[in-house]
Amino acid sequence: MLKDPSKKYRAFPPVELPDRRWPNRTLTHAPLWCSVDLRDGNQALAVPMNVSQKLELFHALVKCGFKEIEVGFPSASNTEFTFNRRLIEERRAPDDVWLQVLVQAREDLIERTFESLVGAKRAIIHMYNSTSPAQRRVVFGKSKDEIKAIAVNGAKLIKDRLPRLAGTEVMLQYSPESFSATEVEFAKEISEAVMDVWQPTPQRKMILNLPDTVEVAMPNVYADQIEWICRNIKQRDSLIISLHTHNDRCTGVAATELGLLAGADRVEGTLFGNGERTGNLDLVTVALNLYMHGIDPRLDFSDLSSLIEVYQRCTEMTVPQRHPYAGELVFTAFSGSHQDAIKKGLAEWSGEPRTHWDVPYLTIDPADIGREYSEVIRVNSQSGKGGVAFLLDSEFGIVLPKDLQREFGPIANVEVDRLGREVSGAELKAMFWREYVERDFPWQFEGFETESRNGVVKCRGRLLREGNPVELSGEGNGPLAALVHGFSTLGVPRFEITNYFEHALSSGEGASAISYIQIKGADGKSRWGAGVDTNIELASVRAVLSALNRS
Ligand code: KIV
Ligand code: ZN
Repeated sequence: MLKDPSKKYRAFPPVELPDRRWPNRTLTHAPLWCSVDLRDGNQALAVPMNVSQKLELFHALVKCGFKEIEVGFPSASNTEFTFNRRLIEERRAPDDVWLQVLVQAREDLIERTFESLVGAKRAIIHMYNSTSPAQRRVVFGKSKDEIKAIAVNGAKLIKDRLPRLAGTEVMLQYSPESFSATEVEFAKEISEAVMDVWQPTPQRKMILNLPDTVEVAMPNVYADQIEWICRNIKQRDSLIISLHTHNDRCTGVAATELGLLAGADRVEGTLFGNGERTGNLDLVTVALNLYMHGIDPRLDFSDLSSLIEVYQRCTEMTVPQRHPYAGELVFTAFSGSHQDAIKKGLAEWSGEPRTHWDVPYLTIDPADIGREYSEVIRVNSQSGKGGVAFLLDSEFGIVLPKDLQREFGPIANVEVDRLGREVSGAELKAMFWREYVERDFPWQFEGFETESRNGVVKCRGRLLREGNPVELSGEGNGPLAALVHGFSTLGVPRFEITNYFEHALSSGEGASAISYIQIKGADGKSRWGAGVDTNIELASVRAVLSALNRS
């Protein structure tokens, strides 16, 4: 890299807009959405989608609620042409969905584009030409007037052919490509020249799409450009101002959101930001950002995992694990303190519901987009007792008492650290079973009966001590007191029961109950035991044996 980058690069000049209004606005409603997955996204794939993949993705987009879908560049390839024809001839597009087709301002291409649209119910014809200084100079070698003439000529060619699409509701769209790198005055001039040909009205608007073809500045500059156009272009009320951002500086989402504040009505983008170079705007993120502010995005991502699956299969792209909302790990906490906060937040939410979602670390309720709570908290060596307890509870209904969580957490952590990887809920349960429930040395349970008379409970227990049969009998004011007394008659050092919890186990364990018992020995040391049995009294006897075995 250069020591002095200013010798080679320069900042993009700001737009003169001292009384800009967008910073004081907030978003209150969803924009019109247009998916360009099948065109811009497809153009960016190493192996473009075939017709059946495009059909599958098209149907997935319709299912999400997209009403405007750019289906391709029909004049550019047979696949795109055939795909568009199949959508129309096989009546695959619902009547309220606009099929958008892209075309350059060239007669042969416009001709073929019209052929591809015959019979469509609703169509958006999207014409573009490049307008930035670099494109004018390097690619076209043309003056501003000559570039404007390309746009005007293309607009006329389209207008002349409109009668061929009788029966089709047509909307026209113009994009001064590389808008964000173009002087705003020239972008206005060329757009107005196209408007002069197409003659939009407030009743029959045209779409003016203002692409951030390559991000050249910070998103506030794009917002200024959009506000400048909205305030200076003629017949604003006859236009649908549309945003089309890319992500070269990783601010496509920010540029779109600020562009909406600046007055735009419509947003083009792709699922998960697929597209040329660093990609197009990620529509899912913008829609869910609105959703997390309580605004209905008018797109349905309630089964995001299935959408990801279709997207990955059709495009052969992957959704990164940390991708906002969609990534495998974005609702997952491994760290102990995060897990603890999430666990408490979720418990509060499911207890006495608050009016509004406010769970630490979770921007939205994962369940709203079809994600499982079980994936929220995952356990590795960074995790703490909270995560361990959450998995045992959410996956197996094993609700460890707080103090037992504190005892078992570090025990599990040592084992997870040794394994050096993430562990599943089932593995944690197995660790808990090994450490507590299956402890049967030196004491092993064989049988236990009680009888009660005049408030006194007598017990008889059959046990194995280091493998040898032992009979135990004792009495007290309850079965556990009788058991403790019975142990004292066998010469076991005195201990007392200091904590007791029990609950039924989920159906997976049959009709069993689990009992957690904490004992305190004469040495003052406390330890927990746990026992499982179909009989709750026997579960607690087993829990006492477990605690003694852990001495
Ligand atoms: O990024 C871009 O400028 C485009 C245009 C064709 C709209 O994709
Ligand atoms: Zn683009």
